[in-house]
This record gives sequence, C-alpha cells and structure tokens, in this order.
Amino acid sequence: MINNTAEKLPTIAILGGTGKEGPGLAMRWATVGYPIIIGSRKLEKAHATATRLNEKLSIDSITGLQNNDAACQADICVLTVVATAHQAALQGLKLGLKGKILVDATARVEFRDPKPPKPPSAARIAQDMLGPETKVVAALQNVPSHLLKQNLGATIDSDVLVFADDKTAASEVVKLVQAGGMRAYYAGDLDSAIVAEGLTAVLIQMNKYYSVKTASIGINGLDV
Ligand SMILES: NC(=O)c1ccc[n+]([C@@H]2O[C@H](COP(=O)([O-])OP(=O)(O)OC[C@H]3O[C@@H](n4cnc5c(N)ncnc54)[C@H](OP(=O)(O)O)[C@@H]3O)[C@@H](O)[C@H]2O)c1
Repeated sequence: MINNTAEKLPTIAILGGTGKEGPGLAMRWATVGYPIIIGSRKLEKAHATATRLNEKLSIDSITGLQNNDAACQADICVLTVVATAHQAALQGLKLGLKGKILVDATARVEFRDPKPPKPPSAARIAQDMLGPETKVVAALQNVPSHLLKQNLGATIDSDVLVFADDKTAASEVVKLVQAGGMRAYYAGDLDSAIVAEGLTAVLIQMNKYYSVKTASIGINGLDV
C-alpha cells in the first residue's frame, strides 16, 4: 500500500543495510512510501543493494551511500550491522547520528551456539557511546529476516518490543515499526533491552529444533 497523503515521511537510513536484516526492513518501509538510504562501508555495495531492492519493488526511492553519509542525510537511522561489529561501527557514526533517533536492532547472539548475552544491552552501550544528543531506541531484535521479506505490504505475525529511555523517541519508533507491518509496543528502558537480545537466542534455538527460520514473539493482554 503506497502512502498518498500529503504528510512528508522521514528519510530512513539503514546502516549496514546490505546484509540479511536490513533489506527486508528497507523493502517494507519503501513499500509504504518512506525514502530509504541503504548504508554500507562500501559505496558500490550500498548502490548495488539499493538497485536490487528498487528493481524488486519497481520503485526508485531507495538509494545507497556509505554509512556515515547515510546517517547525515537521514531523519531516523536504523543500525543493522553484524552484531560483532556493533561498537566498531558506532565509533565512526557519532557525528552523523547527532540530533537523531538511532534504532538499534543488535542482538549479540552467535547463531551456532545461541546464548543470551550479559548486560549491559547493546543499545545501552550505544547510548553511552553516542551521548545524549542521539536518542537510542532498541527494537526489531526478534524479527527474523526471513519473515520481513514475506508478504511485503501486509502485516507479519511478529510483535516488536521497543525499548528507550526517551518515551517520545520510543513512540516515534513504535509508529515506524507499525508502518512496516509489525505490531509494536513500548517495553521499557534501554537496560531492559537485554531481554530482547536474550529472546533472540531462544528463537534461534526454536528455529533449529522445529526446522524453521521464522520463529518470532507475540504479546497478549494489551488493549492498545
Ligand atoms: N538476521 C536476522 O534474522 C536478524 C533478526 C533480528 C535482528 N538481527 C540483528 O541485526 C543485525 C544485522 O544482522 P544480519 O543478519 O543482517 O547481519 P549480516 O548480514 O551478517 O551483516 C550485516 C552487515 O554488517 C556489515 N558489516 C560486516 N562487518 C562489519 C564491520 N566490521 N563494520 C561495520 N559493518 C560491518 C556488512 O555491511 P557492509 O559490508 O555493506 O558494510 C553486512 O552486510 C545484527 O545485530 C543482528 O543481531 C538480525
């Protein structure tokens, strides 16, 4: 469904958007009208991913830039670099992320031996590194990349826990995630985001046990 209203949607940069998780998010938001910038360490790789996704959707609103340029040009940034590069990637992005919301999707879990990580949460580490001028919001840790790529434009069966110290930033991210076809709920502060990272370890073990790639979470009892 394309957004035809007069409202100007924010530009979303997906930093490290060339891997497994980033492209599904990019396609979901592009499908409903958000301008998307794919970020990469390499400009050519960012361009190649943007071109591939545009062709898939028959659109031209996805562009590609190096991560820092992508952050500078976006209104909201989403971090989907491989979890082992989380802190290294953030080092170079501090200036570009100033004054912005950073949605941190990082779940520091090894696929081969999935175990819940120890606190502090990746998002708390990000917030401490970036300082108060960036509002870090943790979200999307429990949404498998395979699910994101299915039924673009339709709601997927996955609930998203959204964590932030700043509830206004959290509300904006809840709306963004909902626009991408997921249910989303505020779930606590950045320290609590360690639970979402741990849940990713649980979901990977369930995927392996049940031979699927799409295990996700659902929340009951909220009338919102
Ligand atoms: N995969 C999932 O189903 C899933 C689900 C929920 C959350 N997540 C989280 O989302 C994040 C991305 O996961 P993914 O599976 O998409 O990862 P991925 O495909 O392994 O990697 C994503 C991107 O990270 C970038 N990268 C690799 N090494 C880097 C480095 N040293 N410095 C900076 N960037 C580097 C690469 O981009 P360039 O080479 O283009 O720079 C790569 O395309 C992780 O934190 C993961 O926990 C993943």
